[in-house]
Amino acid sequence: MDFFLDTASIESIKSFQDFGLVDGVTTNPALLAQEGQEPLRQLKEIAAMVAGPVSAQVVETDPERIIKHAQKLARVADNIVVKIPASTAGLLAAQALRAEGIKLLVTLNVHAVQTIPFIRMGVDYVAVFVGRLDAAKLDSTSLTWDTRRVIDQLNSPTKLMAASLRTPDHLTNAVAAGIHVATVSPAFWNQVFANPIFTSVEREFLQSWQQLPQELRRGYESWDDEEAG
Ligand code: E4P
Repeated sequence: MDFFLDTASIESIKSFQDFGLVDGVTTNPALLAQEGQEPLRQLKEIAAMVAGPVSAQVVETDPERIIKHAQKLARVADNIVVKIPASTAGLLAAQALRAEGIKLLVTLNVHAVQTIPFIRMGVDYVAVFVGRLDAAKLDSTSLTWDTRRVIDQLNSPTKLMAASLRTPDHLTNAVAAGIHVATVSPAFWNQVFANPIFTSVEREFLQSWQQLPQELRRGYESWDDEEAG
């Protein structure tokens, strides 16, 4: 299973690469807009610093225009995967773009049924929007399980991506459902590792440790065997 970083921030990509959490990157128009930079230049920079797939979304809704924009984005770098919407326009465009060998990620899926024609076609990725569904009080867990079942049932090479992840349970449930990729935002990872229970137990253990006299602690603490005696 791969972890992609859901961001268009160069700084975040650099720091999460150090943690080994950047097998790829997903951008979208909102994420690029947030950076306030020239988006095409930003995308080129991201594609150059990431070895894995970097997705870039079309900003068109009409099939012919989706095709033209996708062709342009695909020329930015070899590792670009073009994001197209899970709509009928996206479906028309997907057929033409697949014939040209352009790698595709079908985005904005909020029901498994939406993914079926794309999975049958064998697009590279379908992304299920877990958090958005949850926010609408709909069943995000079955979305992921059902989509994975569709992929297996149709014996398709399409990879299942969990996107729009908001809570720790979203990620754990998605992994349990058999996703191939989770795209995770920097804010999500920060939230996971700032769990207050973890922080307080860690602090408690270290405080207890300090109760032991220093001369007794020394051998255990020291990484220099001579100093430890
Ligand atoms: C996925 O590729 C998307 O960029 C992403 O997860 C967006 O979801 P959100 O806007 O609900 O965070």
